[in-house]
Amino acid sequence: MKKDLLTLKDLTKEEILSLIDLATQIKKNPEKYSSAMEQKTLAMIFEKPSLRTRVSFETGMTKMGGHAIFLSKNDIQLGRGETISDTARVTSRYVDIIMARVFEYSDLEELAENATVPVINGLSNFNHPCQILSDLLTIKEKRGTIEGLKLAFFGDCNTNTAHSWLLVAPKIGMEVRCAFPKGYGPDNGVVREAEGHCILTQNPSEAAEGADIVYTDTWMSLHIPEEERFKRFEALRPYQVTPDLMSLAKPNALFMHCLPCHRGEEMTAEVVDGPQSVVIDEAENRMWMQNAIMLRLMGRA
Ligand code: CP
Ligand code: NVA
Repeated sequence: MKKDLLTLKDLTKEEILSLIDLATQIKKNPEKYSSAMEQKTLAMIFEKPSLRTRVSFETGMTKMGGHAIFLSKNDIQLGRGETISDTARVTSRYVDIIMARVFEYSDLEELAENATVPVINGLSNFNHPCQILSDLLTIKEKRGTIEGLKLAFFGDCNTNTAHSWLLVAPKIGMEVRCAFPKGYGPDNGVVREAEGHCILTQNPSEAAEGADIVYTDTWMSLHIPEEERFKRFEALRPYQVTPDLMSLAKPNALFMHCLPCHRGEEMTAEVVDGPQSVVIDEAENRMWMQNAIMLRLMGRA
C-alpha cells in the first residue's frame, strides 16, 4: 500500500481484498490485536462534525492498545492561520499516524505530502474512502462476496460517498448505477475513471431494477449551505428510497446508508428501519476496517 489512504483510486483489488480479510480477522479475534498499537498515537484532525468517524477511530485505537487525540480545527492553530504544511510537519514529530476530516480534498493531499507519517482521509467534500471500504466489509459479511454486484445510488450523486463507490467499482467489477436529477450528477473525472462500470440515469426505477444493493446519502451534506435546502429537496424528492423502489431491487437486496440519515428525506423510515437495512452494521464495521487500515499503513499487519 502507498504511505497514505486518501482515495480508493490508489488501492489495487488485492489490497482491498486483503484489507477486508484483515478487518474480518480483527473483528473475530480482537484480543489478538489488543497490543498491536501499544505506545502508538493517532492524531484526529476535524474541520467538520462527526459521530461515527471520531468514535470508531478513537475506540479502535484503544482496542489495539494505542491512543487517539481529537483535534478540532478551532482548538489547534490551523483555525488561526497556521499552514497545513507546518501542522503536518509538527504533528508528525509527535504522533505515529494522522486521520483528517476536511472540506477540500487538496488540503488532504497537502497534509499527506508534508507529513512524515501516514495520513488517512476521514472524509472530504469529494470522497469518503474509509466509509466505502467498511461498507465492502459489510457486503462481504452479508453476501459472501464483493465482486460482480450491482449497486444503485439514489439522490445527490455529486457527493463523497457516491464518488468513492464509483472509484472502487472498476477495481472489484461492480456496476454502480447513479439515479439523480439533472445538476446532481457525479464529478465528470470520477465518471471517466468508472467507465464501463457506471450507469447514469434520471430514472430511479431503471436504477433499482435487479440491484443487489440500494444506497443513498443525505441531501444536505455537511458542506452544503442551509439556503440550498428548499431547492435541493424539490429536485431530489423523486429519488427518495421508498418501499416501492426497494421492491424493484432483488428480493434479498441490502439497503445501505453511511449515516447520519434523515427519515422522510433521502429514504422513508420503513426502509431504513426495515429488514433489508444494514446501516447499524455498516457503522460498527467502520471501526474494524479502520483498524485494519491503520495496521496496514503502519506495517504492523
Ligand atoms: N458516516 C460517517 O462518516 O459518519 P460521521 O459523519 O458521524 O463520522
Ligand atoms: N455525504 C455526507 C456523508 C456524511 C458521512 C456528508 O458529506 O455530509
